Amino acid sequence: MSPPDAPSGFDPAPFDLGEYRRALGGFGTGVALVAAHDAKGDAHGMIINSLTSVSLHPPIMLWCLANASAAFEVFTQAETFSLNILRSDDHSVARQFSRRGGDRIIPPEQFSKMETGAPVLTSALASLDCRMRLRQPMGDHEVIYGDVVAYRADPGVDALGFFRGRFVTLRSED
Ligand SMILES: Cc1cc2nc3c(=O)[nH]c(=O)nc-3n(C[C@H](O)[C@H](O)[C@H](O)COP(=O)(O)O)c2cc1C
Repeated sequence: MSPPDAPSGFDPAPFDLGEYRRALGGFGTGVALVAAHDAKGDAHGMIINSLTSVSLHPPIMLWCLANASAAFEVFTQAETFSLNILRSDDHSVARQFSRRGGDRIIPPEQFSKMETGAPVLTSALASLDCRMRLRQPMGDHEVIYGDVVAYRADPGVDALGFFRGRFVTLRSED
């Protein structure tokens, strides 16, 4: 079946979804927590690996949010958000905030604020404080672009990675 917004004449290959996901799993990535406040002021977090640096000057990031996510409304309505790159020892954050239907509220002692007021994960290897720039529906995801207003980083620390469906440690050779 074609995706609802497929261009006319587009006939997607009859992919086996499991096989396709396994093929993509060979593209190892870092792991990040996106965080934003909901309308009541609670801080929500969700694990993502779709973040990409789109532009350095001006600094623009994007990430992709599944339309089916229970957190869809929170992350599409938020005017500001942070992208927090996880350290290799932050497995507990990675597991808690990727659980389907799980509690995604970040306890106040685990976040602070920078410029925009979005919640920023204190333990992150690096954090990007963003203002929502643009949202673009794309297939079964929403692409969310943010202007990076401020950042902080702790570059000497090993990062958490995701490769072939598992969390791994990313360490530089030297
Ligand atoms: C390593 C990893 C990367 C993920 N990346 C994304 C992502 O980029 N976008 C997304 O919407 N969900 C992503 N997820 C899924 C969410 O973390 C979470 O599991 C999902 O939103 C749970 O479903 P729910 O929101 O309906 O409760 C990722 C999960 C893992 C473990």
